[in-house]
Amino acid sequence: MRQVLNPSAGPGAGAAAVLTGLGTWLPPHRVTNGDLCDRLDTSDEWIRERIGIVERRRADPAVSTGDMAVEAASRAMASAGVAHVDAVLLATTTPDHRCPATAPWVAHRLGLGPVAAFDVTAGCSGFLHAGAVAAGLLAAGTARRVLVVGAETMSAVIDPDDRATAPIFGDGAGAAVLEAGPRRLDGALGPVVWGSDGSLADAIVVPAGGTRERHRRPVSPGDVYVRMRGNEVFRHAVRRMTRAARDAAAAAGWELSEVDRLIAHQANHRINAAVADALGIPRGDAPSNIHEVGNTAAASLPLLLADAADRGDLKPGHKVLLVAFGSGLAWAATTLVWPSGLSPRR
Ligand code: COA
Repeated sequence: MRQVLNPSAGPGAGAAAVLTGLGTWLPPHRVTNGDLCDRLDTSDEWIRERIGIVERRRADPAVSTGDMAVEAASRAMASAGVAHVDAVLLATTTPDHRCPATAPWVAHRLGLGPVAAFDVTAGCSGFLHAGAVAAGLLAAGTARRVLVVGAETMSAVIDPDDRATAPIFGDGAGAAVLEAGPRRLDGALGPVVWGSDGSLADAIVVPAGGTRERHRRPVSPGDVYVRMRGNEVFRHAVRRMTRAARDAAAAAGWELSEVDRLIAHQANHRINAAVADALGIPRGDAPSNIHEVGNTAAASLPLLLADAADRGDLKPGHKVLLVAFGSGLAWAATTLVWPSGLSPRR
């Protein structure tokens, strides 16, 4: 059953979550399809055609998810022109440690003092899940300004010898500042539609490292890496993203024909083409940067928003439909009208 979280409908109602800043950071090291072919039985053509990726970034081993989060977050705060936030939410599947959460360290490095800070684990839809949590905090009056970060070091959990996953994922970070404000303001997040299906928890999984597999010692080397049933994930991604996006547009009171831009998680260009087709949104209205960064999981949406804004693909007044899907399985979608005067910092 689908669930709708409407930030303007709860007690303490009135405040929406308004996007006021965006920041990103990408590791400088580029890994091309050609680089992967040295090690894997694959080809540049196969990866371009079947996934849509030309290159992805890889973080230096000395650089952690928290490090990248700090870089993106400080840029987002500069973009919003703010020096303080009330809470830091870090969406990631690749935290610095299993314990503690990475967000408190990020908040510390940002010099934010003793603010609330915690991680949100919802795979590739983590950024929208964290945005939904932030919207709830803002609507309830628990916070007036929240930093939402998506950061991933996917290269740490990808088997470099697995051609089913190694070409797909990349490293990077993106962050947004959300502030309490009137719902009618451009930049205000609309109702969030989200959900999960834990019956498919093993469709994208890192088997070792948690409590489930701890009885198996020693762990086999491959179990520390992501295992994915790509074909199955593909089908669920199309179905769930299509439905969540349609429901989010309806919850916002929009016809799909009014949508100017579809901002979809960058996992595979064929997934997003199928979702756009199913929604009746022209493929050209779904900006993409997968060719440059690959699938950066929880960092994907803020990286794409910043890229699209910089390229002029997002213009003030555009009706934007956002949707993401990933491990869990979990998905989320929401809407916003692109605000004027927002310039991402890179
Ligand atoms: N290079 C060359 N061939 C490859 C390959 C690669 N990198 N990866 C798989 N293949 C081969 C397979 O071995 C298979 O060969 P076979 O027909 O001889 O058995 C063939 O290509 C088709 O495999 P399949 O898994 O059906 O390919 P696909 O078209 O589904 O593409 C994915 C594979 C992983 C790219 C695709 O399923 C996908 O993107 N899934 C979603 C992944 C995703 O979004 N994950 C994150 C969620 S956010």
